[in-house]
Amino acid sequence: METAKALHTITVEMTTGMLVLSTLAILVLTWQACFSGETTGKYREAFDGIALFGALIGTVLLILAIVTGYRQWPIEAFMSGTIAKNKIFAGYMALAFWGAFLAVRLSAGKPLWNRKGLSLLSMFLALGGFLSIVFTASIGGTLAGKPSGFEEVARVFVETRETFVLPLGLNILLIVIAVAAPVFVFFWSDKRSKR
Ligand code: HEM
Repeated sequence: METAKALHTITVEMTTGMLVLSTLAILVLTWQACFSGETTGKYREAFDGIALFGALIGTVLLILAIVTGYRQWPIEAFMSGTIAKNKIFAGYMALAFWGAFLAVRLSAGKPLWNRKGLSLLSMFLALGGFLSIVFTASIGGTLAGKPSGFEEVARVFVETRETFVLPLGLNILLIVIAVAAPVFVFFWSDKRSKR
């Protein structure tokens, strides 16, 4: 268990670093796509490399963080603790966001940053992934007895200490986004690239 604890600490730090790096690069690329009008150049190339590298390595490390996370406590402890279950939920949300970003970037290729719509979608996914990671890690700090204080701020919006249920309208909205996003990426953007 001590080894799992050490491995969890190492993997979560590296995950966070890689994904923050990727998020910053995605913000710069989206800003370029939407405001500066610059569509080529070595800086764009470099930022795209950073965004992809950070997201790929960060997502692999995120999976390792989840695997080592489960090795921390007996499964009964997770099942009986609401805050721990919320942490697991937030960890999987992060995986869903970063998986979706990678699907968009790998299917659209580098020209993704020439398209405002896809750039904004990527930014939305990266920010969702970033917030989920911050949320997961901050609950981790609380569980380890080293609260960062962020979880107290997050509790103003979502109660992390109790089981929470999303309102029906929000659930329907999430389902619509989940269905619309791949349709948008694989059909609409594909049609545009053929023009
Ligand atoms: C989703 C599966 C995960 C589970 C089941 C899990 C479980 C745990 C548990 C039980 C602890 C407290 C360990 C102790 O008693 O000291 C912990 C700590 C922590 N977790 Fe996770 N975790 C998961 C994923 C993640 C992810 C994805 C991140 C962020 C990338 C993360 C960040 C942290 C941090 C920062 C700590 C505090 C570590 C320390 O201070 O040494 N966890 N986790």
